[in-house]
Order: sequence, then C-alpha cells, then structure tokens
Amino acid sequence: MRADSINKLSKLVPAKDVAACRAALLLWYDKKARALPWRVLPEARSAGVRPDPYRVWLSEIMLQQTTVGAVKAYYAAFLERWPSVSDLSAAPLEAVLSAWAGLGYYARARNLHACAQAVVEHHGGLFPKAEKALRQLPGIGDYTAAAMAAIIHEAPANVVDGNIERVMARLHKVEETLPRAKAHLKALAAHYVAKTRAADWPQALMDLGATVCRPKAPKCDSCPLRAFCAAQKTGQPADYPRRAPKGAKPVRYGAAFVLLRENTVLLRRRPPTGLLGGMCEVPNSAWGHKEIDADEAMTSAPVEANWHVSGKISHVFTHFTLFMDVYLANAPDSFATNAGWWAALDALDREALPSLMHKVLALALAPPK
Ligand code: ADE
Ligand code: SF4
Repeated sequence: MRADSINKLSKLVPAKDVAACRAALLLWYDKKARALPWRVLPEARSAGVRPDPYRVWLSEIMLQQTTVGAVKAYYAAFLERWPSVSDLSAAPLEAVLSAWAGLGYYARARNLHACAQAVVEHHGGLFPKAEKALRQLPGIGDYTAAAMAAIIHEAPANVVDGNIERVMARLHKVEETLPRAKAHLKALAAHYVAKTRAADWPQALMDLGATVCRPKAPKCDSCPLRAFCAAQKTGQPADYPRRAPKGAKPVRYGAAFVLLRENTVLLRRRPPTGLLGGMCEVPNSAWGHKEIDADEAMTSAPVEANWHVSGKISHVFTHFTLFMDVYLANAPDSFATNAGWWAALDALDREALPSLMHKVLALALAPPK
C-alpha cells in the first residue's frame, strides 16, 4: 500500500475513535470472551498468567481454515498424545498425519511436524519470540507469526484473519472487493493495534467476528461496536465485505479403481507434495479436462479384471471440481502387486484417506440396490 493512501486512511480513523472503539470491544471481551482450551482469559492474563507457546502454536495451525468447534477434539487428542513440542518432533510423521486426518490440508500436518523438529533442532525446543524469526519456520506465515507474537508475548502485532477482515470491512464500509481489498483491510486493522492489551485485542476481534459480527446475519443489536459501524447504518451489513463475483470453477475428470481381495482393498500413497500430498488413495487415472469413457478409463486400471461401474462422485477442491467415475472389481487370483498395500475394509479409518476417497469407497462398497 502506498504512503499517500495510508495517510488518507489514518484520517479515516481518527485516534479518538480508535481509542473509544478499543475500549468498547475490550470491555465486551472482559465479559464475553469464549473460554477456549488454548486461551488465557483476560482476568487470568491480567493476573500474570501466560499461555504455553506450544499450545498457542498448535491451536493457531489447527484453526487455519477450520472452525473452533471442529478443532477442539483434535486439539485435545494432540495434546494428550504429544504434550510438548519435543514429543511432537519425535513422533513418526505417519502418526501425525493420521491423527490429523479429517482436519484437511495435509500440507499443514507435514509442516506442523517439520516445524516441531525445527524448533527442537535449531531453537533448543523454544519457539522464537520475534515475528520475523517465527515466519522462517515451516507452516508459519504472516498471520500465525503475528498471532503468536501477540498472544504469547503481548507484542503489538497486526493479526488479520478472515474474521478481522470482515469486522474491518463492516466498520469502515469498505467497497473494494476481496481479495483485492486485503491490503486495505490490513492497513485499517493496523490503526487499532496498541501496546496495551496486545494479546486480548486480536482475540476480542476474532470472538466478535465468530459470535456477533458473523458472516451471515450479524447480531448488530448486541454489538459493542454498533455506534462505530458504517455498514450497520446501511441496513445491509452482511453485504460487507464485498466480493468479486465468482466465475464458475473449472472442472476435471478422472476414474478411480476399487480393487477388492477378500476383505481388503488396494490402496497406494500419493506423492508427498502437491494436492492431497502424502495421503492414501485407490489407484486412479490422471485428472484431465475431458470426460473419460470406460475404454479410456481401462488404460489406467491397475489390473485387467471384471471392472463394473459403481457410479460417479463429485468433489469440490479450492481451484476446481473433480468428477470421478468409480469402478469396482475383485482381484484375479493370480494378482500380486507392489504398487500399494491391501488395507482391511473394517479398519479404513486407520488410513490417511481424504474425503474424496471416502466418497469413492462409500459408493463402491455400498450394498447393491
Ligand atoms: N481463530 C484462530 N485463532 C483464534 C484464537 N486465538 N481465538 C479465537 N478464534 C481463533
Ligand atoms: Fe458487525 Fe453489526 Fe457490529 Fe457492525 S454493528 S461490527 S456489522 S455486528
């Protein structure tokens, strides 16, 4: 963001409004802060209690693109199994990946493990304090580094997540559309950052965003920032942040092969990087831009067998929608392979299967109608 537009912004947010707005939200937070397992509540914090850096880090990584509700059980299970960063760093990657299954985005679980190892190997088991040093660690980006600096060390860091972007867009009725508006929203958020209560401030904004200034149907009647909010005055606060209209997602096509042998199914592992990196799958074709007919699909089958079509599933990824034809067969008696392993059908929850593959298997293994 250029200096002249930052100057314009500071005129938009007079210091006395910032102070009043902070005071109103922090007062609300004193009463309404959610008691979250990784959180030190304002009263305890003002009495000198500080959170465990490992717990703050673990919660922030888990909370990326996931809701508090979805994270709680995983957080408890991770802490029970790996109570410290050195326990986690010593765990086999496989164990971490399978404990993560269901949280999505496997790269995050790989980075989590790599980060624990880096903290133990290069920082003597202690997370660095400075945002810049934190950002050098695997899986820690601008947001996580700022959140850790603020929540652990009470540094006046500008923490901006989706909740905080939304609150800023509404307070200031920002007309620019996301994602382009991100820089503007971050600059607005920076005006509210202060040295006092530097840990409570971003958490108060996040709680407001999650419980009051919700994406749909914000509860403006019970909002402590109502008097400061420009979007509320329009009567249509939920129309902010503005978004660029979505183009239809591109489509890709593939074919998946569920090969059974007694009570097992053939699985293989995906390459460690890229989409669904390191997760398990049944053998499947490359995903292309054209529909694949059965003859063409058979060129990708792991073995010549009596393949039957089970049906078609679709799965929405961030950047495209995948349509996959699902084929089912029993392995020929003579079939042996080192292209994967035979996983017991009654223990598939032990495999790191992405939801795409759960859909494929559920379709193929459903009792015939
Ligand atoms: N979402 C991500 N981090 C959070 C935090 N520290 N408190 C509440 N919600 C969050
Ligand atoms: Fe959000 Fe409404 Fe509060 Fe404005 S008044 S910050 S739109 S909940």
